Amino acid sequence: MRLIQPLIVCAALLALGPAVDAKTRAECERDYKPQVGQAGKDVIWVPTPDELVNKMLTMAKVTPRDFVVDLGAGDGKIAIAAGKHFGATALGIEYNPDMAKLAQCLVQAEGVGSKVKIIQGDIFKEDFSKATVVTMYLLPELNLCVRHRLLAMKPGTRVASHSFAMGEWEPDEPFEADSRIAYLWIVPARVGGSWSLRDSSGSMDFTVSLSQSFQKIGGEISMAGRKQPLIGASLQGENIRFSFIDAKGVTQHFAGVVHGTKMSGMLRATGITDLNVTGNAQGALASPWAEMASGCGRFYGK
Ligand SMILES: C[S@@+](CC[C@H](N)C(=O)[O-])C[C@H]1O[C@@H](n2cnc3c(N)ncnc32)[C@H](O)[C@@H]1O
Repeated sequence: MRLIQPLIVCAALLALGPAVDAKTRAECERDYKPQVGQAGKDVIWVPTPDELVNKMLTMAKVTPRDFVVDLGAGDGKIAIAAGKHFGATALGIEYNPDMAKLAQCLVQAEGVGSKVKIIQGDIFKEDFSKATVVTMYLLPELNLCVRHRLLAMKPGTRVASHSFAMGEWEPDEPFEADSRIAYLWIVPARVGGSWSLRDSSGSMDFTVSLSQSFQKIGGEISMAGRKQPLIGASLQGENIRFSFIDAKGVTQHFAGVVHGTKMSGMLRATGITDLNVTGNAQGALASPWAEMASGCGRFYGK
């Protein structure tokens, strides 16, 4: 019994891990107290207010399955909130080494060291391609210069930006909190080009030609030698929808998903049995909208 008790205490301390040595927030800030507005590599430090942090993560529908990356993490508050209040795994990338150290100290102080990490690094050099949610409070030019990397991420990845937009890539949703504005984008699948689709019986067999600029799509359908414009075509991440009028004058509604060069979904029309439709891309269009914006080479040493 005399031996067992210290063993239990030791095991409990080990289970607590690094939190045993964690400083309090006040101790972290005693070591380094940043000043709002202080210079950063490409943008100054100004923290996002708590209410907007919460709104950004809520709008991005962050869950414990997400990996959130905050570009230019400052004191780490977005990454910490993602771990602490949304249960996500999170990474903050901060260039200023003192700030990154403070943020990592605050991660431990807030007890989220097992889920959240802050690294010292440059957002133009670090790889954040595995994130499922990207947050940022940068500048319009910096947003434009990470845009091509965001557009190369998995379709459906959510991007939330405080204050600043993303050039011609219109947000899927603007939102406000604490009298500030933020934006949400959902990375669109690449769908521009020609798609050949049919149901298993072959009763529906058609080609869809899609034009694309970011999440905006349009095009036409060729069926039984007739061409019809698509009606109400939309794309959200990998989810695609469009309607068209078929050769019999019936309005058909397609809702499906795109995975790389494969598309599948359901064709619905009033009074007709739903049809499962699948198909493949026949040829992809160039995607100039997804390329690096002009003038951004300097951030990448080009
Ligand atoms: C406006 S603050 C936003 C901080 C935090 N994301 C928030 O919303 O509270 C921008 C931060 O980006 C950092 N920063 C500036 N250029 C950077 C770069 N190239 N790579 C990483 N961090 C950078 C600054 O030091 C600053 O802490």
